[in-house]
Amino acid sequence: MPTPVTNIADLRELARRRVPRAFFEYADRGSYDEVTLRENRRAFERIRFRQRVMSDVDHRSLATTIAGQPVSMPLAIAPTGMAGLQCGSGEIRGARAAAKAGIPFCLSTVSICSIEQVRAAVETPFWFQVYVMRDRGFTRDLIRRAHAAGCSALMLTADLTVQGQRHREIKNGLTVPPKVTLRNLFDIASKPRWIWSVLNAPSRSFGNLDGHIKGADSLTTLAQWIAAQFDPTLTWNDLEWIREIWPGKLIVKGIMDAEDARQAVAHGVDAIVVSNHGGRQLDGVPATIDVLPSIVDAVGGDIEVLFDSGITSGQDLLKALALGARAGLIGKAFLYGLGAGGEAGVTKAIEIIRRELSVSMALTGALDATRVSSDILWRG
Ligand code: GLV
Repeated sequence: MPTPVTNIADLRELARRRVPRAFFEYADRGSYDEVTLRENRRAFERIRFRQRVMSDVDHRSLATTIAGQPVSMPLAIAPTGMAGLQCGSGEIRGARAAAKAGIPFCLSTVSICSIEQVRAAVETPFWFQVYVMRDRGFTRDLIRRAHAAGCSALMLTADLTVQGQRHREIKNGLTVPPKVTLRNLFDIASKPRWIWSVLNAPSRSFGNLDGHIKGADSLTTLAQWIAAQFDPTLTWNDLEWIREIWPGKLIVKGIMDAEDARQAVAHGVDAIVVSNHGGRQLDGVPATIDVLPSIVDAVGGDIEVLFDSGITSGQDLLKALALGARAGLIGKAFLYGLGAGGEAGVTKAIEIIRRELSVSMALTGALDATRVSSDILWRG
């Protein structure tokens, strides 16, 4: 990887140059007017730390547990669609980097490498994210496949039963598997590293869905396919059905409201992820960091609250910990690392965030990532 890469923005810039536009923008952009996408960043920028000095911060601990699993730092890789088209074998590379860094990797239902392909390539158990499809038999099979592969947690995404529109996906004519057209010919031809990696990958289409859902190979856009397959009838009562199939840890992602968080507790979920899907679903909702305190107030004593959407630095992660999150998830920062440099790029993204977190803890006088409180925030 060319130097100097010093922050996540550098990885983003490298990814922008190395990944064909349709896939880079799939990772980079949000829905509709991208109000929430921008707000996720701005809200972090509005929060200030309280700087502390002279308190011996030489020994700091970043280790914690997430959903019962020991981790080297309070971070996990979020499930992201089509990671394997930021870079061939992207999910395998991401899972390897996460395993080496001692943090969880969550594989998406709409991944390119399948559950089994990742399982065969990576020894460390990973998490699996599930979308509930109209075809419940197929959804059940997916969950069973994750169980058979030894996945250590199941993450149910609750906020995408109906898809928010991302204008760029339509304008870019995103297709899976990638198709070379007159319009993208130059763009793709100018990305030889990407072509090479994708040609050498075990899969170029939706690995978990091939052969199971008719037409998944020939879909014209992801959005059309999602509209046809994802199940908008999903309710909290469906968790009972999922519990019958999945005996392990169950995490629900996409919570933005204290009332929904209470429902998750009432239905026996192990952890929730406060998330607005990285600003990719309901445009106009607040930043996740702004709703986090109300959700922690409501259920923080009963359930693990994880945080997603907008983390691009260790400082962001520390702010989320200060406001009550047990750990943060990175989606975009992970995909930028992948597009920039494959496994090494993901390792770099994780290490950047780890170092920034550790330094920021030192400068706020925080010694233990499991005990960070809002005391480290400046109140004006
Ligand atoms: C899928 O989860 C997406 O956000 O595109």
